[in-house]
Amino acid sequence: MAAPTEKVAKKVGGLAGISAGESAICTCGTGHGLNYRGYDIYDLAEHCEFEEVAYLLLKEKLPNKAELESFKKELIAARSLPKELKEVLKLLPKDAHPMDIMRTACSTLGCLEREEYDVFKASFPNQQKIGIRLLGIFPSVLTFWHHYHTSGKEINTESKQDSIAGYFLESLHQKEPKELWVKAMHASLILYAEHEFNASTFTARVITATMSDVYAGITGAIGALRGPLHGGANEAAMDLIEEFKTPEQATQGILDKLARKDKIMGFGHRVYVEKDPRNVVIKKWSKRLGEDVKDTKGLYPISEAIEKVMWDQKKLFPNLDFYSASAYHFMGIPTPYFTPIFIFSRTAGWLAHIFEQRGNNKLIRPSSQYTGPDNKAFVPMDKR
Ligand SMILES: CC(C)(COP(=O)(O)OP(=O)(O)OC[C@H]1O[C@@H](n2cnc3c(N)ncnc32)[C@H](O)[C@@H]1OP(=O)(O)O)[C@@H](O)C(=O)NCCC(=O)NCCS
Repeated sequence: MAAPTEKVAKKVGGLAGISAGESAICTCGTGHGLNYRGYDIYDLAEHCEFEEVAYLLLKEKLPNKAELESFKKELIAARSLPKELKEVLKLLPKDAHPMDIMRTACSTLGCLEREEYDVFKASFPNQQKIGIRLLGIFPSVLTFWHHYHTSGKEINTESKQDSIAGYFLESLHQKEPKELWVKAMHASLILYAEHEFNASTFTARVITATMSDVYAGITGAIGALRGPLHGGANEAAMDLIEEFKTPEQATQGILDKLARKDKIMGFGHRVYVEKDPRNVVIKKWSKRLGEDVKDTKGLYPISEAIEKVMWDQKKLFPNLDFYSASAYHFMGIPTPYFTPIFIFSRTAGWLAHIFEQRGNNKLIRPSSQYTGPDNKAFVPMDKR
């Protein structure tokens, strides 16, 4: 029989099921449905622009018309890239992963526009301003780096688009985006905006709890988001879907992968057991966008075939990342930019958690169960 400590160690593997603190920002899989600050995600995704949701997360209330307009003006002003940051983006390699570009850009901005704060008085007068700066500038970072390294062109950040969704699409494609695409992007950004104590948010809170600055929290969160078990799953899901030419091939291909015990990216969730509520919304958008561009490669039916075989064989359901992949693809977005889009959105959630952590801070420092050797006799250098 396993010793009691071993049993506990297995149970807390990956901190599954452990409550690691209190938060008033989001519920997820806890019997309340998925909501942000008490508002149902389905209402927000149906009726809001992303900026309204970002405001809700940062300022703890939905904005009225005037507040939204002024918030959007601040976000538009925050799009511009400092010349030093442009130089850094030009120097970074063309074949770097865009998530590494985003992480480096965030850290660089932290050197250029430092956060002034007083740790001992717990006073952070610039945190809202820096939050807006980061939300505004991230799409510019990605599209500036993209265009410079693909065509040598230094794009400017001027645009008539008044939303992050519209601005990103216009800046990437260098032409006015379709209204349908802008709407889909708003919905996608809303769905990705916040999700309680996920790995990247928890990372941001751990960093913040040491009384570090906002940039450090967000830079660390980007690092955590990059991996395929978290945000990187949307890119990995696209690579998977594109392996197959027909739904039949996809069904057989997934059966083969499951037989080899491969992980199928875009499926399963640490908290949700039966379904990811966000999938309902993004799946509809993927279908609509596929119809709009005529989906010649049949990516939507292939995705549905993968969904069916995963449920039949493993009772595993698609998470938000799975249909986000085809939705983004249908809007002409290159696969390596899928996870950076997640940053554009989740920055709002990360900021909300950074502010909340600062509001009632306590160093986050759990302990571990030691499993190493004891009482080893020290061996001097000449005897090793
Ligand atoms: C999200 C995820 C990391 C949650 O992991 P977790 O709670 O630690 O669960 P585990 O990885 O331990 O999985 C439990 C079981 O389900 C299986 N499983 C979970 N997700 C799976 C997947 N996507 N494909 C195949 N099998 C999966 C595991 O192999 C394991 O089976 P076993 O008990 O027979 O070994 C996991 O489902 C996963 O890796 N999914 C793919 C990546 C992804 O889409 N991430 C985005 C999450 S929003």
